[in-house]
Amino acid sequence: MEISKLGLSIGESMTLKLNETFGILKAKGEPVIHLGGGEPHGKAPLKAIELTNELLQTGVVRYSPSIGTKELREAVRDYTYKFYGKKPELKNVIISTGAKQALLVAMQAVLNPGEEVIFPKPYWVSYPEMVKLANGNPVAIDLKNPGFIPEISDFEKALTPKTRAILINSPNNPTGIMYPGSLIKDLVSFTKEKGLYLIMDDIYHRLVFDNLKHPSVLDYASGFEGSHIILVNGISKTYAMTGFRIGWAVADSSLIKVMVNLQSHQTGGPSPLLQKAALGAIIDDQSGVEELRSTLEENRNLMLELLKRLDKVKIYKPSGTFYMYVDFSAYEPDSMKLSAYLLEKVKVLTMPGKAFGLDGHLRLSYCGEADEITEGINRLVWALDENITEPLEIGTQTIFKD
Ligand SMILES: Cc1ncc(COP(=O)(O)O)c(C=O)c1O
Repeated sequence: MEISKLGLSIGESMTLKLNETFGILKAKGEPVIHLGGGEPHGKAPLKAIELTNELLQTGVVRYSPSIGTKELREAVRDYTYKFYGKKPELKNVIISTGAKQALLVAMQAVLNPGEEVIFPKPYWVSYPEMVKLANGNPVAIDLKNPGFIPEISDFEKALTPKTRAILINSPNNPTGIMYPGSLIKDLVSFTKEKGLYLIMDDIYHRLVFDNLKHPSVLDYASGFEGSHIILVNGISKTYAMTGFRIGWAVADSSLIKVMVNLQSHQTGGPSPLLQKAALGAIIDDQSGVEELRSTLEENRNLMLELLKRLDKVKIYKPSGTFYMYVDFSAYEPDSMKLSAYLLEKVKVLTMPGKAFGLDGHLRLSYCGEADEITEGINRLVWALDENITEPLEIGTQTIFKD
C-alpha cells in the first residue's frame, strides 16, 4: 500500500532516536555517558505533584477545554506579565501538549500551502519538519557572521513573496547563544514592516547565565491584540518537566482561536492532570528554577574548561540553555561519523551537527551531573588528542588507541 508523500517527507527526530539508543545501551549495562541530552535532571516542583495528585485522587479526570483550563491560562497570563511586563487577556493564551504542539498549531494557523518560514542555521531539529507538517516550506538560512548571531540582512536575503514567518529561538538550541536586544528589536520591526509573523520560541528564557538579562520580543512590542508576534513557552526546561508535556502560546486572539480549532481535532486540550502539574510549577516557590539555572551555569563553565585541552575545537561561549555547539571539523568534518565513532570507541553520546543543519559540529549538553560531564569530556579528549597514547579505562574495560 502507498504511504503519503507528506508522511514520507518527515524524517525521524535524530535527537529522540539517539536518546533511545542511549537507553538501550544503558539497559545492557554499557558504561555510556550522555552528552547529548535535552532535558535537565532534577525533580518536578512539589506543588506540581501535589496538585496532580489531588485531581487524580478524585478519580474524575475529563476532557479539558481545547484552549486549556481557565486556571492554567490565568497562571500563564500572570507568568507572562511577571517575566515580560505585558499582560495578555485569557483569549490570547492557548495551552498545548508541549511547546512542540504550540509551535505546530501556530504554523498550521499561519501557513498556506507552499508558504515559507525562515529560521537560522543551526536550528532545532523539529523546525523544518514542523513547517512541512503545516504544508509550508522550511527555509534554513546561513549566517554571514561567525558566532551564531544573525543579522537582519541574513533574513532579508531569504525573503520571497512566499515568506510568511520568521522563527527564532533565544537562548538557542543547539548553540546556547542568546540574541542581543538590538537584533530582537530589529526583527520585531522588520517582520512588522514586511507583514510577517515573528514566532519566538522562548522555551529557555529563564536559563540564562552571567547575570545577563534575556532580551524579549515583548520589550519592543506593545501587546498581543493585533500583534504579529507569537510567543511560545512551556514548562519542560525551566521546571525539569519534559515528560509532563505542557507548553503554550500567547498571540492575537483571532489567531489563537484558529489554533484552538486545529488543536481541538488533534489532541483536544492537554490532559487536565498535566495542566494541574504545570499550574503547580508556575505558582510554586520558584527557587528550584534558580537552582537549576546556577547549576547549569557551573556545568557550562566546567565543560568549557575541560574542552580547553582540545586545542583544535572552536567554541562560542553559550549564554544560556544547556547546550554548546562545538566545531570539531579540524578533527573530523563529518559529524555523523564523528558522533558514531565517539559512541563506539569511548561510549560517549553526542548529537551530530548534521541533525541541526550545520555539519562539522557536535552539540554537547551540560544538563547532566558534573562527574558525568568530566568523565564524558575526558573520554572525548582521549579519543581525539593524537598525543595521548596510553590506554583508557572505561568501567571494567581497557580501551587502546587504534
Ligand atoms: C528550541 C525548542 N523548542 C521547543 C522544544 C519543545 O519543548 P516541549 O517539551 O515543551 O514540547 C524544545 C525541546 O527540546 C526545544 O529545544
